[in-house]
Amino acid sequence: MSASESIEIEYSYDQLPYDSHPYEKTHPDHLATMARIFGLEAPDPAQSRVLEIGCASGGNLIPMAITLPESQFLGFDLSRKELEEGQKLIDQLGLTNIRLEHCDILNFDRPEETFDYIICHGVFSWVPAEARAKIFQICQETLSENGLAYISYNTFPGWFMRGMVRQMLCFHARQFDDPNTQVEQARALLDFLNQAASKYDPTYHMLLQRELEIVRNRQNSYLYHEHLEQDNEPMFFYQFMEQANKAGLRYLCETQFSEMIPSQFSPEVTQTLKKLSSDIIHAEQYLDFLRNRTFRRTLLCRKDRELQRDLGADQLRGMKIRSSLKLPPLSIPLDRPGDLGFTSPAGLTATISSPLLKQGLAAICQKYPIYVRFDDLPGLIASQETPTIRDTAKLNQDYEELASMLLQLWGQDLIEIRSSPARQAMSVPQSPQTTPLILSQLESGDYVTNLKHEMIQLNDMDRHLLRCLDRDAAGRREYFRQRIEAKELVVSTFDVEGACEMDDGQLDQLISHGLKRLLDQALLLPEKK
Ligand SMILES: C[S@@+](CC[C@H](N)C(=O)[O-])C[C@H]1O[C@@H](n2cnc3c(N)ncnc32)[C@H](O)[C@@H]1O
Repeated sequence: MSASESIEIEYSYDQLPYDSHPYEKTHPDHLATMARIFGLEAPDPAQSRVLEIGCASGGNLIPMAITLPESQFLGFDLSRKELEEGQKLIDQLGLTNIRLEHCDILNFDRPEETFDYIICHGVFSWVPAEARAKIFQICQETLSENGLAYISYNTFPGWFMRGMVRQMLCFHARQFDDPNTQVEQARALLDFLNQAASKYDPTYHMLLQRELEIVRNRQNSYLYHEHLEQDNEPMFFYQFMEQANKAGLRYLCETQFSEMIPSQFSPEVTQTLKKLSSDIIHAEQYLDFLRNRTFRRTLLCRKDRELQRDLGADQLRGMKIRSSLKLPPLSIPLDRPGDLGFTSPAGLTATISSPLLKQGLAAICQKYPIYVRFDDLPGLIASQETPTIRDTAKLNQDYEELASMLLQLWGQDLIEIRSSPARQAMSVPQSPQTTPLILSQLESGDYVTNLKHEMIQLNDMDRHLLRCLDRDAAGRREYFRQRIEAKELVVSTFDVEGACEMDDGQLDQLISHGLKRLLDQALLLPEKK
């Protein structure tokens, strides 16, 4: 990258800073889980060294530094404005295990340092070829023995179509200087094309409409940096992997397990895919062809690491599993064959017919939000009234069958599997507490980062409860009475007109519901021992 290209990128991100968010699937806890599933003993996230390339204002890295206080975090970026914003928050929170530095990817040179987790989200496709090569080089030179690198990037074939739209938007927007005007103009052009092109070519119209839907609700900064930025260089997955291999890196997996499972295709399609695919790289590439994939979040490790691609019970040993699915009223006993629909809080239904899985899942769901160790499942099943696991000689076979079915459920995001449990309260503590980051984010925007590294949109009740969390029960009651009287909080479930007519019992009930909601959203810290 030439000096002028670097300055141009720096300038664009200073002019229209990127909204910097947490990405759940980049958290070292999750990366370590994925590595273990594929047979690699990743470094302990709780005592690790983490690097983020292009960290912007630290929206991803700062919450990690809070949940992993004994780990060390380094982020670097080219935009001084974004870094200053991040540093302000770090100072305010008094964090000492994180550094944000101003550095160009091309100039990053730390031969003496190693990192267990390297994260590069939303950067790779948007920098010139030289910087992309340098990202691989940084991974090659600084990744620890069993370390993992996460890189996200735009892919073909999906970006052939999206790239066409991008070029039209760039053509139009370059007539204007100010980034915000460019974004407004790009949106206007897309609207115009969508309306005007509809008469001529229905297929083309469908394509434009889809793009319009994608950008319509996104922030200006997203549209600008995704579509109007000078560099946006998608590639096929196999091309990405050719370059990664040259840099001594090996494909581990995608960070989202469900993306690796071709479950939405028919058995015939899955069979053909298997025949076509001589190895994992081919298999993934053909999947991209089928899915018209536009984006990947790939995990890489050192080339010489041994991996295990036949997934089974061995990979799940020691793993913690939980699920918020609800066990329905039983029409037939769990140990008999027959469909049973477990429902998720979002209203999805998982229909299970295997007695072994029904009993296993029932044991998991009954413990929620506590995690169950995979190794403890046969014991929990055996303790049920009419256990499906009776024959100890068959135990290994049962373990394998259960593991394979649980992995399928994980692939549909119906259960959670982790190598270490989320660092959150499992029941409402006597003295509930949240993180200083959540208290700060709650005053500055619509979203906060919870203890599972997810973005959570708060309602008014959540906000007020978090603000008075450090008070005792009487103090919280008083706080709510005042807010309701001042009409700062409208409590729709109670008929409150004018003055607060709620008695202490009703207020306690309201607060207790609210605390349960904070617990379910992973916003409460575990009780101090
Ligand atoms: C699209 S943003 C993504 C930010 C963040 N990783 C995220 O996903 O929220 C790209 C970031 O990469 C930074 N960047 C671009 N080119 C860079 C370079 N050559 N060296 C360091 N940072 C760079 C930009 O300043 C910007 O903060």
